[in-house]
Amino acid sequence: MPSQNVADILIEALPYIRQFAGSTIVVKYGGHAMVDEQLKMDFARDITLLKYIGINPVVVHGGGPQINEVMDRMGIKTQFVRGMRLTDAETMDVVEMVLGGKVNKSIVAQIAQAGGRAVGITGKDGGMVSARKMTIMKEGAGDAPPEIIDPGLVGEVTHVNPDILKTLTDRGFIPVVAPVGVGENGETYNINADVVACRIAAALGAFRLILLTDVDGVLDRDKKLIHSIDTGEVRRMISDESIVGGMIPKLEYALSALSGGVGKCHIINGTRRHSLLLELFTDQGIGTEVLL
Ligand SMILES: Nc1ncnc2c1ncn2[C@@H]1O[C@H](COP(=O)(O)OP(=O)(O)OP(=O)(O)O)[C@@H](O)[C@H]1O
Ligand SMILES: [Mg+2]
Repeated sequence: MPSQNVADILIEALPYIRQFAGSTIVVKYGGHAMVDEQLKMDFARDITLLKYIGINPVVVHGGGPQINEVMDRMGIKTQFVRGMRLTDAETMDVVEMVLGGKVNKSIVAQIAQAGGRAVGITGKDGGMVSARKMTIMKEGAGDAPPEIIDPGLVGEVTHVNPDILKTLTDRGFIPVVAPVGVGENGETYNINADVVACRIAAALGAFRLILLTDVDGVLDRDKKLIHSIDTGEVRRMISDESIVGGMIPKLEYALSALSGGVGKCHIINGTRRHSLLLELFTDQGIGTEVLL
């Protein structure tokens, strides 16, 4: 006999399914959340399920650890500043190959296995993500003036043209986007995946933006989960260094996505099975909600 619980669970999801029908949800799948095959397959199933119940998921993925692994194997050193990878031409080649190739296509293949139809693209395809070179200001120690750091081929997004995404989703496909952009002169830029996800979410006017990472959400100094965080608290926690590394661009750009018209944004733990479904379809939200 199937359990009554299963029916209860489906019924609990009904108001959410109704609310989300026809809407666009941008999901950033962090490279740090892609820890094992089981989790990646669960993620692919979750995304496929969303598509079949009438939601339009758009996946943007990272791949930091996967890039590091290949760089290590090739004997190339990596440095990070404020969560951004310093990228010379040789590093850029590896980044583009790993993100646009290996990582992107493995997500596409897993969604296919789950019964969905995914199309893997980078920000270069369809003129989607235009970028320019980023400069990073690093505060000097004591009274020293701020230092300007040249991160190489690290880009910031200047414009997102979402036409290709709309075309794909309208025809029943699930776009899977690698965070690579193109400059005015055709040069390739490595862009933080959170930044690309947030800008795409704003360009699409997404109903939800979900950032899947490898921690439960934003944590305070005692490693306790913060259930919701606003602009003031983000500023305060960055300046006292309670928020560091990859969490900085995640929060800064999540805030700009919200001011750009995205309905809601959550940071959740992608290393917990089916966290995406739990966040979307149950009464108690998990992770951290980012508020303006
Ligand atoms: N206050 C904080 N709360 C939670 N995590 C934090 C905090 N400050 C820094 N972090 C770090 O941010 C990390 C998440 O960002 P990170 O860029 O490493 O991963 P990702 O964005 O999920 O993956 P990828 O960069 O590959 O796309 C966490 O693993 C944690 O180490
Ligand atoms: Mg990151």
